Amino acid sequence: MSSNNFPTKHQKLLAWVQEIQELCTPDRIYWCDGSQEEYDRLCQEMVDSGTFIKLNPEKRPGCFLARSNPGDVARVEDRTFICTTKREDAGPTNNWMAPEEMKTILRGHFKGAMRGRTMYVIPFSMGPLGSHIAQIGVEITDSPYVVANMRIMTRMGSKVLDVLGEDGNFVPCLHSVGYPLEPGQKDVAWPCDKDHKYIVHFPEENTIWSYGSGYGGNALLGKKCLALRIASNMAHREGWLAEHMLILGAESPQGEKTYVAAAFPSACGKTNFAMLIPPAGFEGWKIWTVGDDIAWIKPGKDGRLHAINPEAGFFGVAPGTSEKSNFNAMASVRANTIFTNVALTDDGDVWWEGMTKEPPAHLIDWQGNDWTPDCGRVAAHPNSRFTAPISQCPTLSPEWNNPEGVPISAFIFGGRVSSNMPLVFQAFNWEHGVYLAATMGSEKTAAAAGKIGELRRDPLAMLPFCGYHMGDYFKHWLEVGRALTDPVPIFRVNWFLKKDGQFLWPGFGDNMRVLKWIIDRVHGRGHGVESPLGIIPTYQDIDWTGLELSPAQFTELTTIDRDAWKQELLAQEELFVKLSERLPFDLVMERQLLLARLNRSQAVWAPPQ
Ligand code: OXD
Ligand code: MN
Repeated sequence: MSSNNFPTKHQKLLAWVQEIQELCTPDRIYWCDGSQEEYDRLCQEMVDSGTFIKLNPEKRPGCFLARSNPGDVARVEDRTFICTTKREDAGPTNNWMAPEEMKTILRGHFKGAMRGRTMYVIPFSMGPLGSHIAQIGVEITDSPYVVANMRIMTRMGSKVLDVLGEDGNFVPCLHSVGYPLEPGQKDVAWPCDKDHKYIVHFPEENTIWSYGSGYGGNALLGKKCLALRIASNMAHREGWLAEHMLILGAESPQGEKTYVAAAFPSACGKTNFAMLIPPAGFEGWKIWTVGDDIAWIKPGKDGRLHAINPEAGFFGVAPGTSEKSNFNAMASVRANTIFTNVALTDDGDVWWEGMTKEPPAHLIDWQGNDWTPDCGRVAAHPNSRFTAPISQCPTLSPEWNNPEGVPISAFIFGGRVSSNMPLVFQAFNWEHGVYLAATMGSEKTAAAAGKIGELRRDPLAMLPFCGYHMGDYFKHWLEVGRALTDPVPIFRVNWFLKKDGQFLWPGFGDNMRVLKWIIDRVHGRGHGVESPLGIIPTYQDIDWTGLELSPAQFTELTTIDRDAWKQELLAQEELFVKLSERLPFDLVMERQLLLARLNRSQAVWAPPQ
């Protein structure tokens, strides 16, 4: 569509597009219609320009590989800002700048930023089109890579403009890679601004400005920026929840379906859990995938919480994904997938660490260099990704597109912790559960820039994504739960306990055993015992059919070391002090109660056998 043939009569949208055109001075404007023909054309253009490598159509039909600039490989949390009028409203866990000050800086960067490029206008819906839980966004970008990814990750194109009508609400999302081209200047395969990056949110006016990066959550603005940082603000104002959670439905052999939402920090196996294949001994059980990363959850008229997945695709971490670890993810990426920063095989397929036991004898690595198994470098970047349509997931829930969402029966929180955090336990009540979620810690992964392995507090797995004061966020959670007729049970899990460097728990499909205990508890038929931390299963309470795990091994997975836990409570002080001005007193009380329970407990607590 040309710029004088607008596909919408929405005056506010047209005015905004014109304003950005005048600021960024692109060579041309293109309104995306979301069609297959448009997608194919853009992909071909990216093949011609060197951004995409077309993969072997026999091995990976409709698939492409992109290699990013080595300086643009992950979300940049230190360059991510929440700009509110009052600094306190962003809270101490977010970078802050006054909105007008930030806009002045950004206008400087965006001025002429799209010179020599096409400016794409992408209308998209987060959530089923027209659902009362969904939100519409419009992303303006100068990156065709972003357009192609947004077509997979969201419902995108003309159909969204139809729903928007002439005066519907939308979230304006402005993005530029920050690499204008002078006349005659040759483009690079992955343009970005290597010196300046800004991922900026203005929650008081629901707008997003992202400059300088073309990668993942920095650039696909529907995902972390809209669906978490901006939506968490909307949810706070309007009484719902926008969470970093997968949603799955577990169906028993008797046909009973139980939906749970689970929060794990980035790259801690949410995609694996969302697509879990029940292990031997669990024949007749089915896991249905509703979403693998984000949940929007609203109280319904029935007094229960209902969740939708606002996304339409997976932007999953590739390394570690294999037929064995996640058969369904591998099936989802067999076709029509964009791979970023993985390795290329000699026969035009992709490879990453953990995909097969034996690496191929030769590869081209994520930076385009020759690679052999003995070269001492990884072949795929640790945060390399696949972008795949959710419709290709074999376990996709028939409910995933239901505009009403699915009813949530349990919340599960789990970090990556190598010691001192049992395999599973249930909070005594909602307040205790919010305390457990709020104090969650996890060892850092490659999803964001920074030191890997370091333990950091990641409350509700939302540390990089909560778009307002974390203390207010905890208060919001307490209030949402109190308003429910039947509060949802809350569980903590940890798949990552280690002894002598070895994982103690097999994880993956065997996590079904823990999930089944959770489901039994939800339906009031699961047994557990009271521990200082919460309600914990005994060895007999878990279904071990098909797995040899001894009572002694189970004890290692469920032991509570009193002194280590008292240290942990001390360490939580740092978070509490940081948030003190808005920390709900209930959480301080919960910590006191836990301390009292620990003081009454023996030095080493383990469930009775
Ligand atoms: C993601 C993340 O990409 O959490 O989902 O980093
Ligand atoms: Mn995520």
